[in-house]
Order: sequence, then C-alpha cells, then structure tokens
Amino acid sequence: MESNRQSTIENRQLKIRLRVNGESKRWAIAPGDLLLDVLRREGYYGVKRGCETGDCGACTVLANGKAINSCLMFAAQAEGCEILTIEGVAQGDALDPLQEAFLEHGAVQCGFCTPGMVLNAKALLARRPSPTEEAVRDMLGGNYCRCTGYRKVIEAVLAVAPPFRAARAGPVAAGAGLKPGATAANGSGGAHKKRGARRAGAATR
Ligand code: FES
Ligand code: FES
Repeated sequence: MESNRQSTIENRQLKIRLRVNGESKRWAIAPGDLLLDVLRREGYYGVKRGCETGDCGACTVLANGKAINSCLMFAAQAEGCEILTIEGVAQGDALDPLQEAFLEHGAVQCGFCTPGMVLNAKALLARRPSPTEEAVRDMLGGNYCRCTGYRKVIEAVLAVAPPFRAARAGPVAAGAGLKPGATAANGSGGAHKKRGARRAGAATR
C-alpha cells in the first residue's frame, strides 16, 4: 500500500515555470527530478555532472543570483526562480570579463570545472566586487579542479576586481598592488584563446 502510494507520487508530473538565462520556461518534471538532470535534459550541457553529492561544484548554477549545487536541489524547488547557467554568461559572441580573465590567465585546461568556477566567482564578485585573495580561496573551496589547479583561477578572479582592472588600464599604475603574475597572460596566445573560448562556452557534454 505504502509502496503503491510512493510509485504514484514518483510517476506524477509537475509543471514548473522558471526563467533560464533570461528566457521563460515551462517544463514538465517528476517530483523527484533534480535540477541538474532537468537542466541537462533541456540541453544545458554546461551544467556538469560530477560527484552528485554536493562536493565538487561542477554542477553549480546561480539561482536568483546565489550559487547552488544543482545536484542537491529538486527541480520543483526552482519554481519561479531565475537560473543562470554558463550558457547565459557571455553576451552573444562577447565573453564575460571573468571568462576572458580565465583565458588570459590560463585558468582553463579540460574545462570540466570551469562553468562551476565561473558562476561561483560571478556570485562572489556580485556581492563583493573587490574580494580579498582569502575570499576567493574560500569561494573555491566548493569547486574541485583536477588539471589546472587553483593558482591561475585565483589570479583570474582577482584580475576582474576593479582595483586590478584599473591597474591594468594604465602603464603608470601597471603592477601597483598586483600579486606577482596577476597580469601575466601565461602564454595564452591566439590558438590557446580560441581553444579556451570553446571550453569557456562549455559546449562539451
Ligand atoms: S555534481 Fe553537484 S557538487 Fe558535484
Ligand atoms: S580544468 Fe580540468 S578539472 Fe579543472
């Protein structure tokens, strides 16, 4: 009796309304569907499936501006939410400054962790435009990277903060207040940049 009721609930369909990357969506979901699964099912492959236990941060999206692990959130809980995935970060062909910084600083290799890192960093910069290195390190505690490491990612995030941007803009100020290597492009030439741009756009599945 109890298991019948359970399977009836699982087979039920719900309709949710939400906005994803600025577009209104109305999706049919099952009550137990995870937001991660629904987003990927709907073609948002930049939302990566990693640990599925809330540890790696690969599935990070922004829900109403807050970074969340979509593997830990039921899709039903996203009713009425504004979701941002990596597919919505660039404006047309123009990458977000954060994505540009990741490429310039060589903070992207295989790119699997990159969407989660970029979105987490966007949330941090939105609430704290000039974060300390410690705050960036703290933020990265929720994102695992298995090939690039973290130093270049930290440099990339700090490079987007206004004091660093200002320092980069003028030759007089160049280097003032910057961490060693913070402006180094780390050998990211055109070819590397194009390769990285594909990854930063998270076209991989
Ligand atoms: S897949 Fe969600 S935190 Fe790892
Ligand atoms: S760039 Fe490969 S896991 Fe981070």
